[in-house]
Amino acid sequence: MRLATPSGFATEVFLLEKPDRDLLPEGPWTLVGDQRLRDAWTGADMPEPADALWVAVPEEEKKLRTLIPWLEHWARVPLHRDATVVALGGGVLTDLTGLAASLYLRGVAWQVWPTTLLAMADAALGGKTGADLAAGKNLVGAFHPPRRLVACTDLLATLPERQLHNGRWELIKTALILGEMAWAMEMLQDGPVKFGWIERSLAYKAGVVHRDPRESGERRLLNLGHTLGHALEAASGYQLLHGEAVGLGLLGSCLLAEEQGLKPFPASLLEPLARRLAPLAALVAPWRDCLPLLARDKKARRAPGHTDDKPATEIQCILPRPGEPAVQRTLPPEAWESSHAKILALLHQETARA
Ligand SMILES: NC(=O)c1ccc[n+]([C@@H]2O[C@H](COP(=O)([O-])OP(=O)(O)OC[C@H]3O[C@@H](n4cnc5c(N)ncnc54)[C@H](O)[C@@H]3O)[C@@H](O)[C@H]2O)c1
Repeated sequence: MRLATPSGFATEVFLLEKPDRDLLPEGPWTLVGDQRLRDAWTGADMPEPADALWVAVPEEEKKLRTLIPWLEHWARVPLHRDATVVALGGGVLTDLTGLAASLYLRGVAWQVWPTTLLAMADAALGGKTGADLAAGKNLVGAFHPPRRLVACTDLLATLPERQLHNGRWELIKTALILGEMAWAMEMLQDGPVKFGWIERSLAYKAGVVHRDPRESGERRLLNLGHTLGHALEAASGYQLLHGEAVGLGLLGSCLLAEEQGLKPFPASLLEPLARRLAPLAALVAPWRDCLPLLARDKKARRAPGHTDDKPATEIQCILPRPGEPAVQRTLPPEAWESSHAKILALLHQETARA
């Protein structure tokens, strides 16, 4: 099924069950694929170019040094300007491959075939490519939209359970941005992931990205849960998966919204949210480890009145509201401190209850 996207949208979006070779590029192309997917890809009768790169890239290797050998390989092949790079894998591989495609010969076309739920529901759409620096996540990158996104849900069959749960958090994020409580609660239940959830999330994100491709306004809403999430992810030494950290960030955002005087979320949402996150309690870093990372967030800026020895910062944060779309606020990182403590208290409460 081809999803309806806004007219002029840079990426054609397909959501299918099985991979379809007719959606591969018409001209010359190459592949950067996750080696875990090789059997599923070839088993689905999909072609494998002779110069394909089958790689394994863990989150800790989402670095510029990982993509340099790929660029050297393409130059040796050689890959020309008319070639298209196909990325087949999770968000780490697709973010890096998109960045490599944006750099090679100052930019060649690419397609993205996401293979994790997180990448299908979120990471693969929107043209943000990137790599991490020692100072933080996704601090280097380019806006380089793929020509085509092809999400094939049959490829999720081999995805480990933890990774499948991980992907739910970006879907739950979408529901919370929209203020759609019933949808968020449905996704917090156990049970199979529904095709329609991915479709809805992609359709929503396509609209936002089309209206604000460079994240100067509305697109910032998509960062809901990511400010604290990125800090927790890095502070855990990447023991927390990206989606899990975002899940914790979502809980923190709900609590922070209440502290900031917005309408509180009912226990019928906060309890299942905390219950799902409770097994992660041991991976939540203490506040003192999160604070410096939060202050280095991409959305942080120096607040008026700062001094060099006391770098006061303020960060654009997104606060969710039940029944209404999320809103943007600018808050100091300290505003997060008590919600961090409340997150831990709620997780421990749920663990004790279990
Ligand atoms: N560009 C964006 O807009 C955007 C948005 C959200 C997240 N991200 C990025 O996405 C990354 C996280 O992506 P992720 O959650 O997909 O993790 P990931 O790419 O690390 O993949 C998770 C693991 O699953 C394996 N895998 C992938 N597909 C598989 C399959 N079908 N079967 C079996 N194993 C499979 C991978 O090898 C890896 O070990 C983060 O780096 C984050 O910054 C980017």
